[in-house]
Amino acid sequence: MKILITGADGMLGTDLQEVLKDEEIIATDVDVLDITDKKATFDFVDDHKPDIIINSAAYTDVDGCEENKDLAFKINSEGPKILALACKEFDIPLVHISTDYVFNGDNDKPWKETDVPNPISVYGETKLEAEVAIQEILDKFFILRTAWLYGVHGNCFPKTMLELSQNHDEISVVDDQVGSPTFTLDLATAISKLIKTDFYGLYHLTNSEYCSWYDFTKLIFKLSNIDTKVKAVTTEEFPRPAPRPKYSVLANNLWKENGFEPLRSYKEAIEEYLSLVK
Ligand SMILES: NC(=O)c1ccc[n+]([C@@H]2O[C@H](COP(=O)([O-])OP(=O)(O)OC[C@H]3O[C@@H](n4cnc5c(N)ncnc54)[C@H](OP(=O)(O)O)[C@@H]3O)[C@@H](O)[C@H]2O)c1
Repeated sequence: MKILITGADGMLGTDLQEVLKDEEIIATDVDVLDITDKKATFDFVDDHKPDIIINSAAYTDVDGCEENKDLAFKINSEGPKILALACKEFDIPLVHISTDYVFNGDNDKPWKETDVPNPISVYGETKLEAEVAIQEILDKFFILRTAWLYGVHGNCFPKTMLELSQNHDEISVVDDQVGSPTFTLDLATAISKLIKTDFYGLYHLTNSEYCSWYDFTKLIFKLSNIDTKVKAVTTEEFPRPAPRPKYSVLANNLWKENGFEPLRSYKEAIEEYLSLVK
């Protein structure tokens, strides 16, 4: 299978390259293929004729998106729309990664794929606009809403906590936002299975079980034998430029309905991550 990966140098993109190494991979990042450049994208797809495109390119700085709104819409909404148009032109399926941030977080049970999105941040708005465009343009798409991603090849929450623990006796972490931390290696493996099928659609796809950022930090420190104290704080005590959804748990219904095994618990996944970054 000839697979074009965009944003391939990012956290998920790097793991996708690793997991799909037995396939014919065309790995590109913005220096080779800028997904916001329509002509360049159409020419590139025409020249390479991939069997499928996986878009892991994005502007993922959630707080940065609030300030740089135009850039955020360009990369997160226009770029995926251009890819969808290219996929339509050359009759290629598109895998696109979206986010729990399309929801407002006002819920007490896991969000279903059919629940109505209502983003509360610019990042969420840009990602939702891409989802809508892809569904309008294409029949053959996999839109995967995932959450709380971390991986070996990127700046991520566990890495930040491990770094902070090196020069702090105590750190404060938000305890009133819950979600499912998801390991990019597990997401990449799931994508490698999904692209062998024609089970197109909009999926929720995360590691199983959920926790707060505070719980997650406690677990990371326990598994790493770190004795830095963790203090639970509220979102109000820890203001950020972009509002975050309070309840971000995603029910992976379509994934299970299509016969796939649920992804392992986030507790197992973080253990493997920690063994890899030691
Ligand atoms: N991180 C999370 O917690 C999280 C949660 C839910 C969903 N997601 C989604 O998961 C996907 C992968 O996220 P990630 O954390 O792996 O992202 P990432 O590490 O930030 O990687 C994104 C890559 O895309 C590149 N890029 C930026 N603009 C581009 C352009 N115009 N054309 C081509 N490439 C471009 C970036 O390059 P530069 O670094 O040079 O800008 C970077 O290499 C994204 O769609 C993201 O929205 C992420």
